[in-house]
Amino acid sequence: MAKKTKTASVPAASTAPSGGMGIHIGISDKDRAAIAGGLSKLLADTYTLYLTTHNFHWNVTGPMFNTLHLMFMTQYTELWAAVDPVAERIRSLGHPAPGSYAQFGALASIQDAPAVPPKALEMVRILVQGHEAVARTARSLFPLADKAGDEPTADLLTQRLTVHEQTAWMLRSLLEE
Ligand SMILES: [Fe+2]
Repeated sequence: MAKKTKTASVPAASTAPSGGMGIHIGISDKDRAAIAGGLSKLLADTYTLYLTTHNFHWNVTGPMFNTLHLMFMTQYTELWAAVDPVAERIRSLGHPAPGSYAQFGALASIQDAPAVPPKALEMVRILVQGHEAVARTARSLFPLADKAGDEPTADLLTQRLTVHEQTAWMLRSLLEE
């Protein structure tokens, strides 16, 4: 394949590692990079919240053990399944998906689970805050996805927001008298 000459009227091929071929899906290189960067933060937040929820499934104690042990399992299973479509959207946009504890630690807006397992209701509080934080991360990316006409990313964000806001509500309800 002949190498394209860069001119003012022809958009530059992606400089991201994509096996030599540029990506021409109608989203500029700049917008693809910015959206992939935002999705990387969403991936890091989702993975961190997944791990914390699984940790709490293992370590929860007290009279609500059975309810919370099972509820956390449902939640970590959903979060585990959610990281894949986020990572693969980043790949579809031509960028590498982060996938190490070092990268996730640097990108995540939520903290790691505490080293000492908290009491059951404190676990619930931490998870409410985690789901709210992931919702904020997802929502902050909407204007960019909209502006770039990136419907697949907007659709993914909508699905994730629905889950995080609903899960935050369910967990929040446990804290009410
Ligand atoms: Fe288990």
